[in-house]
Amino acid sequence: MTDQDPAIKPWGGRFSEPTDAFVERFTASVEFDKRMYHHDINGSLAHAKMLTHVGVLTEEEHQQIVDGLETIRSEVELGQFQWSVALEDVHMNIEARLTEKIGVTGKKLHTGRSRNDQVATDIRLYLRDEIDSIADALTFLQRGLIALAAQETDTIMPGFTHLQTAQPVTFGHHLLAWNEMLERDYGRLLDCRKRANQSPLGAAALAGTTYPIDRAMTAELLGFDAPTENSLDSVSDRDFAIEFTAFASLVMTHLSRFSEELVLWTSAQFNFIELPDRFCTGSSIMPQKKNPDVPELVRGKVGRVNGHLISLLTLMKSQPLAYNKDNQEDKEPLFDTIDTIKDCLKAYGDMVPAIKPKRDVMEEAARRGFSTATDLADYLVRKGIPFRDAHEIVGKSVAYGIEQTKDLSEMSLQELQQFSTNIGDDIFDVLTLQGSVAARDHIGGTAPVQVAAAALRAEKRLQQR
Ligand code: ARG
Repeated sequence: MTDQDPAIKPWGGRFSEPTDAFVERFTASVEFDKRMYHHDINGSLAHAKMLTHVGVLTEEEHQQIVDGLETIRSEVELGQFQWSVALEDVHMNIEARLTEKIGVTGKKLHTGRSRNDQVATDIRLYLRDEIDSIADALTFLQRGLIALAAQETDTIMPGFTHLQTAQPVTFGHHLLAWNEMLERDYGRLLDCRKRANQSPLGAAALAGTTYPIDRAMTAELLGFDAPTENSLDSVSDRDFAIEFTAFASLVMTHLSRFSEELVLWTSAQFNFIELPDRFCTGSSIMPQKKNPDVPELVRGKVGRVNGHLISLLTLMKSQPLAYNKDNQEDKEPLFDTIDTIKDCLKAYGDMVPAIKPKRDVMEEAARRGFSTATDLADYLVRKGIPFRDAHEIVGKSVAYGIEQTKDLSEMSLQELQQFSTNIGDDIFDVLTLQGSVAARDHIGGTAPVQVAAAALRAEKRLQQR
C-alpha cells in the first residue's frame, strides 16, 4: 500500500482514484494541527474508556488501545513519529499509527465518534490548557506591576490628557491604571474559559450516534464542566475561539498602550524611565542608540492578533449548520494568537519589574506645564469665587507665567495677587506638587495614601485567584 493508494485513507472505501497530489496538500492540516497530539490522545483515551464502560469494547481491547496510544505519545515526544500529509490531520495520523501498532482493535477506536466532534474536543482541550497558562502569565505580570506601584506611591510625575501636561499624579497611580486594564482582561479570560469548557464529544458527525454512549462520563474524564447540549452546534461553532481571540485583542491593545508610553518615556525628550539593556537593542549605524525594541514589537504585534480576530469572525460568518471544512481554518489564527500573547506576556512579565523610574526627571517635568493650575482654581473656589471665574483668573495667571517663564509656584504673593486679592500666603502649600497629589484623597485618587491602599487591594485580589 502506498500513499497513492486510496485505501490508505480511512475514508478511502468509496473512492476509485487517489487524491490529487495538490489537493492532498491543500486540504491537509497536519502541519499545524499536530500540535494538538497530546489532547487528541487524551480525548481518545476518554472515549475508549467510555466505550469499554458501555460494553462496546472489551477490557482487553481497551488495554491495547491505551498502551498503543501511550506509545504513540512518546513517539511524538521523542520526535520519532512520522507525520504523513496523506493522512490529512493529526486525528487520522494517530489513528492510522494505532492500527499499524495494535492491528484491528485500532480500527475500533473511532466507533461512535467522528473527526467533527473529535476536532472540536481537541481544540477546546488544547485551548483550556493554554488559557490556564496565559492566566498564570497575566498574574505574574500583574504581580510585578503592583509591586513596582507599591514602591512608587510617592513618586510624582506629570499626568497627561491630550499628551499635554494636565495635573500631577503619582507614578504608582499610573502603574495601577495599567493593572486595572489587565485585571479586567483576566476576568474576561475566566469567563471565556467557562464557555469553552464544555464537551462536544459524542456529537459525532452532527446528529449524535446510535451507540449507547455516556457523554457525561467522557466530559468528566476530560475535566469538562458538562457535555454540550446540541450535537449540531457542538461540531460547528467556534465562538469559544473567537471569544478567546477577542480577549487576546484587548490584552494586546492594553499592552500596546503600555508599550507606547514606555517607548515615549525612554526617549531623550521624556527621559522618565530606564529599561535594562537586556530588553533593548542597538543600532548598526548610530553608536549612541539604545532602542526599546521589546515594547515596540509588542505594540506592533497587536496588528496580527486583531487580524486573527477578524479572520475567525469572517470564517464563521454565514456558515450553514453543521460542520464545514471551512472550520479547519480556525487553527492557524487561534494558534498564532496563543503564541503571540504568551510571548508578549512573558516579555512584559520579565521587563516590568526591571523598569527604573528616574524620579527627579519625572518630578521636574511635573513642575513644568502649570500642572497645579487646577489646584489654584480649587483654592479660589474654597475662598468663595465661582468656579468659572476662578478658571478665568488662573488662565490669566498662566498666561503671565508663560510670558515670564515662571511656574505658578515660583511667583511671589504680590505677583499672584495681581490676578485675585483672594489669594493669601497659604497658597504656596496648595501649589506644591506634593500638596496637589495629596489633596486627591479618595478611592481611585492619586494621593500617595490612596495609591498605597489601592496597591494592597490589588495584591489581595491576586491572592484570591
Ligand atoms: N482537520 C479537520 C479540521 O480541522 C478535522 C475535521 C475534519 N472532518 C471532516 N469531516 N473532514 O476541521
